[in-house]
Amino acid sequence: VLHVRVADLALSFEGPFLLARSQSVGKAARLPPPAVAVLSFCAEPRSRAEVVAQLGTPLAGLYDGLVEAGLLVPPDKVRHTAAFFHNFAGIEIHRRMLGDTARVAAYARAISATVKPGMAVLDAGTGTGLLALLAARAGARVVYAVDNSDLLPLADEVARASGLDGVVKTLRGDFAQVRLPEPVDVIITETFGAFALAEGSVPDLAACVAHNLKPGGKVVPNGVVLRIAPVEGRDLWQETQAAFEDRLGLLFGPLRQAASARGRVTDVPADALAAPPATLARLQYPSADAPSGQVEFAFQAQEWCGFAAWFDVLLDDELMLGTGPDAPPTHWRQVFLPVPPQPAPSGALRVSMRLEPSADDRRSLDVIASWPGGGARWRVR
Ligand SMILES: C[S@@+](CC[C@H](N)C(=O)[O-])C[C@H]1O[C@@H](n2cnc3c(N)ncnc32)[C@H](O)[C@@H]1O
Repeated sequence: VLHVRVADLALSFEGPFLLARSQSVGKAARLPPPAVAVLSFCAEPRSRAEVVAQLGTPLAGLYDGLVEAGLLVPPDKVRHTAAFFHNFAGIEIHRRMLGDTARVAAYARAISATVKPGMAVLDAGTGTGLLALLAARAGARVVYAVDNSDLLPLADEVARASGLDGVVKTLRGDFAQVRLPEPVDVIITETFGAFALAEGSVPDLAACVAHNLKPGGKVVPNGVVLRIAPVEGRDLWQETQAAFEDRLGLLFGPLRQAASARGRVTDVPADALAAPPATLARLQYPSADAPSGQVEFAFQAQEWCGFAAWFDVLLDDELMLGTGPDAPPTHWRQVFLPVPPQPAPSGALRVSMRLEPSADDRRSLDVIASWPGGGARWRVR
């Protein structure tokens, strides 16, 4: 049985004790200081046996106590939601998104083509308010701008500064749970993470649509296409491992191993693809399905070292926002999924792939792949 520490654990000193508390689970406990070792070790899901092996039997007693106190929980009970929204309260992430001119221009065009004067609109995950403001400028009667991050007051100020605060109504909360005072004509959203799905918001959007969209209403975007291609040679693998080379007499093998189990957000040059890209899945947005499928590649290279993964956003029937190596650059870049360099297969390479929310953090994505003679699992976030 595995347990992991709650996502929003806060520690402080109270005399000789540690006070550990979590708002999300509404629990607190006074602990002896060595408990910090257990809490640190249990940043990843761990069993009692692993605690005994790594930290010794006395600390396993503290592990039991923390489980009993509700501060170590089964991986499927943890929600990294607090940390997720905290991330979006920062300014840097919005600097990247607003500075992504391909993204902003494509959404601006799709919104002005879809939103008609007098419509009611919901912007699910408004962030700085960008999409809500574009909908207001397109003539919406009212735009409900929903977000659960602390940035929302700034979105309010931007609406006021732009003279659109009479139209844009910000609402703090989770858009999966919001019930608006009226059903809307259009729901707009940009809640894509790495390889589209890493923000984990697709099920939230499906719930939001079910509760708030008029029958016959529209969702922008209306689809996402997940694309994948093998990467040739060994350069990208070596570059991905290079930061963790042994040095100064220190052995960083465990970090190299960890890095090979993570998707790396980076620019994959178009000429590094060992085969033309294949389509893993076409999602009709808002689909709550975890996509899976088979892709097949006809190789043009001798050696390969992993996969490049990206997505195309179908904003409406005519407009596509591509994020692949051939498209104008976006802040999403691509995701490199590393595999130790190996000779190209003779004939085609057939790969089965599954994408699912990580068991201990639904705002992370696990990509699981297998091919004849090999397989891998990567965490993408
Ligand atoms: C990728 S950002 C996009 C922000 C803005 N729409 C834009 O285009 O610049 C996604 C935003 O959605 C918010 N978000 C994601 N899931 C949410 C949920 N379930 N409820 C409320 N807000 C959510 C995040 O806090 C973040 O501000």
